[in-house]
Amino acid sequence: MRIDVVTLFPDFVQQCARFGVIGRAVERGLLEVEAWNPRDHATGGYRRVDDSVCGGGPGMVMLIEPLRKTLAAARQAVAGTAPVIYLSPQGQRLTQEKVQELAGLPRMILLCGRYEGIDERLIEHEVDEELSIGDYVLSGGELAAAVLIDAIGRLQEGALGDAQSALQDSFSDGLLDCPHYTRPVSHEWGEVPAVLLSGDHAAINRWRRMQSLGRTWLRRPELLENLTLGENDQRLLEEFKREHKGNTHEQDH
Ligand code: ADE
Repeated sequence: MRIDVVTLFPDFVQQCARFGVIGRAVERGLLEVEAWNPRDHATGGYRRVDDSVCGGGPGMVMLIEPLRKTLAAARQAVAGTAPVIYLSPQGQRLTQEKVQELAGLPRMILLCGRYEGIDERLIEHEVDEELSIGDYVLSGGELAAAVLIDAIGRLQEGALGDAQSALQDSFSDGLLDCPHYTRPVSHEWGEVPAVLLSGDHAAINRWRRMQSLGRTWLRRPELLENLTLGENDQRLLEEFKREHKGNTHEQDH
């Protein structure tokens, strides 16, 4: 997969693609990240990329022309079509489902805004999709682009050491992940649950599924509302609820 990023901070985006799983994916040629700076396509002595807001008000807005030229250059760098995704708080909220969909594309162009945002006419003419990484405001789209690159990059075939680990991710089946433990088995802060040491893989899978269901019920109950649980899952969740009641005096669940 190739991801082209239009940004006033190309070094930041390039650096983000250097570490850990994503860095290795880039090294192995599974992922290519290129950055394009609109300042390189700005004209005039000051190479302006922004101007004041029409109608008055604080801040600046990114100009149409430098972005238009930068997008054209990014598009022409590689054959084939690439959707332009604009990162902004006004976009659709990013979900793991969306990440999985985007991870299957051969290429895409990410557009990062700064200041108050981008002239709406450029968005209307050049942007295929607007995505937000959450209901808060960042000072620019670069961190959001880095989040998207990470989430998509780790799903590229061969990026994760163990293909199973992507299948076991939180949200990959609409549920939160189960708790994980490592050595020492016995610690002043508690014991690793005995079932995980039993070697009984059916029992381990059952316990993990129950924890995933239970945690989702406790922490993100709205996620469960969007799912239709099978009979087995319903039984596991009931069991979790019974055990949870036995372990706490909480009245809220
Ligand atoms: N740019 C600024 N804030 C953002 C957000 N929450 N998501 C995506 N891009 C952004």
